[in-house]
Amino acid sequence: MQVPLLDLKAQYATIKSEVSAAIAEVMESQHFILGPKVEQCEKAIARYSNCAHAIGVSSGSDALLACLMAENIGEGDEVITTPYTFFATAGAIARVGAKTVFVDIDPVTYNLDVTQLASKITPRTRAIIPVHLYGQMADMDAVVAVAEKHNLVVIEDAAQAIGAEYKGKRAGSIGHYGCFSFFPSKNLGAAGDGGMIVTNDAQRADKLRCIRAHGSKPKYYHKIIGGNFRLDALQAAIVSAKLPHLDSWTSARQRNARLYDELFDEAGLPVLLPAVTTDRHIFNQYVIRVTSRNELEAFLQKKGIGTEVYYPVPMHLQECFGDLGYSTGSFPESEGAAKETLALPIHPELTEEQVRYVVENVREFFAAKEASEGQAQMVTAAGK
Ligand SMILES: Cc1ncc(COP(=O)(O)O)c(C=O)c1O
Repeated sequence: MQVPLLDLKAQYATIKSEVSAAIAEVMESQHFILGPKVEQCEKAIARYSNCAHAIGVSSGSDALLACLMAENIGEGDEVITTPYTFFATAGAIARVGAKTVFVDIDPVTYNLDVTQLASKITPRTRAIIPVHLYGQMADMDAVVAVAEKHNLVVIEDAAQAIGAEYKGKRAGSIGHYGCFSFFPSKNLGAAGDGGMIVTNDAQRADKLRCIRAHGSKPKYYHKIIGGNFRLDALQAAIVSAKLPHLDSWTSARQRNARLYDELFDEAGLPVLLPAVTTDRHIFNQYVIRVTSRNELEAFLQKKGIGTEVYYPVPMHLQECFGDLGYSTGSFPESEGAAKETLALPIHPELTEEQVRYVVENVREFFAAKEASEGQAQMVTAAGK
C-alpha cells in the first residue's frame, strides 16, 4: 500500500468542476492582478477568521515581511520568535534588518515557551511573532500580556493554522496581525504561492494595502517604500472556491488524528503523540516524537509511507543566522524536537485503512528493533 504524505490529486478530483469554473471566470475577465476576485477572497477570509480586514498578498513569507514593514521595524530593533519554525518567520525579521531574538519552545506543544518571553525583552524589542505550529495556536493570553506590558506588536504566524482556535478565538484575530499562507500543502492551498494578512485595525489594513503595491497611493505616488506583494486573481479565485470545503477537510484531519491516537494508544509503543491543548487544532501536521526518528523514517519510506521532518535544523543553528551568535545547546527543546519529531500523513483524503497501515508499520518497526536489540544482547552475553 502507498500512503503519501499529501494527496493533492485526490483532493482535486473532488472539487475539479468548482476550481475549473473559478479559473475560467478569471480567464474570461482577463483581470489578473488584485480586482474583484481578490476582494471577494479577502472578505471571505476576514469573515472566516473573525477579523474586520484581510489583505491578499503574494505568500505567507511576504505577509510576515509586509507586517514588519508596516510597523517600520528595522535596524536596531529586536523581534522575538521561536527557532523551531519554517525559515520564513526568522527570514522576514532579517530581511527588514532587525535582530531575531529566539525563545525556546514548550516541548509539549512545540510552540513558544511563553514563560521565557519576559526575560528576553529589552528596550529594543518591538514585536513578538508567535508561530502556531502544525495547526495549533500558541498560548496567546501570555503573549498578549507580555506584549501589552511592553507595548509590543504581535504578529501571529498562522501560516499553518487557518481556522485554528484558542479560547474561542480564531487564529489571526488576537494579535495586531495574522499571517496566512496558501502554499499548496497548507490546509487551504492555492495552485501556487499566495497569502493573506488579517487585522482588526483599519489603519494598519490601509497601510498594508499600500505596502503590497510598492507603497503607492494613489498609483505612481509613493509616500512609503513597499514591494510587489500582491495576491493574483487566479490564486484568489481558487482559494475562494476551496474555502467552503475547509471545515469538512479540517474535520477529516481531526478524525484521522483521533484514529491515530487510539491506535497508537492500543499498540502501547514508545511514541509521543501530539498534545491538543487548545479548542481547535486543525492538524496541518500530525507530528509524533520518537528517539529513533531517522531509522523509523527510513523504515516507513520502504513501506511506501511518506513522512517529513519539520524541521531538521532549528533556526538558531542555520548557517545564515550564524551572526546571531547562537550555538548548539542554546535552545535544547528546539534541538531535541528537531532530532526526534516526524510528521505522518494526516491529509483529509486519507482512508481508515491507510491510517491503520501506518500504525501497523510503526509497530512492526519497534518489534523488529526490539528483536535485533535482544539478539545483540545475547551475542554480547555469549561473548563474555
Ligand atoms: C510557519 C510558517 N511561516 C511562514 C510560512 C511561509 O509561507 P509561504 O510558503 O506561503 O511563503 C510557512 C509556509 O511554509 C510556514 O509554515
